[in-house]
Amino acid sequence: MVSVAIDGPSGAGKSSMAKRLAAELGYTYVDTGAMYRSVGLYALRAGKDPADNAAVEALLPQIHLDILLKDGTQHVLLNGEDVSSAIRAEEVGMAASAVGANPAVRAFLLDTQRNLAKSRDVLMDGRDIGTVVLPDATVKIFLTASPEARAQRRFAELQAKGEQADFETVLADIRRRDDQDTHRATAPLRRADDAVLVDTSELDIEQSFALLKQTILDHI
Ligand code: C5P
Repeated sequence: MVSVAIDGPSGAGKSSMAKRLAAELGYTYVDTGAMYRSVGLYALRAGKDPADNAAVEALLPQIHLDILLKDGTQHVLLNGEDVSSAIRAEEVGMAASAVGANPAVRAFLLDTQRNLAKSRDVLMDGRDIGTVVLPDATVKIFLTASPEARAQRRFAELQAKGEQADFETVLADIRRRDDQDTHRATAPLRRADDAVLVDTSELDIEQSFALLKQTILDHI
């Protein structure tokens, strides 16, 4: 089985690139961030602080996640409810980052992630795919861009959706999430020693996509 691991910070374009690449290469796209977001959403709905490790760990037995892979698109069912849109809210992203620092949550999701890669070719994106989840991945990519470039893209996206946005707030959120993801004790965001670094700070979407695709093709 071929597995492509794509890790990197928030807003580097991992999921949009990964989705498109998976479709072109005929692999199944697995979005692990969506799993952390689902746990974060459950904690918020239960009225718990996502950063309270003990409280979130106590919720885990009540959480059942089903990952449906339909037409190359992943749907996450949280106790039977399709939460694929609900998990995209900004506050759910922050909650995901908080529960992602919880070792019990990481252990809870690890088997699901590994099992998805056992019987199919996958392109999996996240923070620790190349370092922890699939250490023997066929190709590992660390996709990144400067915080400013990532904030600029996110800001443009929010504006295009007609949402109220302030560049400095978007940048501060990105920096806070980077800090949380890189400094946590369990599975911190870092480039695997054997991952290829792809920095898209100076590239537009099409250039980034072309570089990423070529990098993968060169390594499989
Ligand atoms: O990629 P996405 O923004 O959906 O991820 C949301 C959060 O989930 C991240 O900020 C990160 O803290 C956490 N996450 C993680 N490990 C992964 C994927 C996501 O810790 N493999």
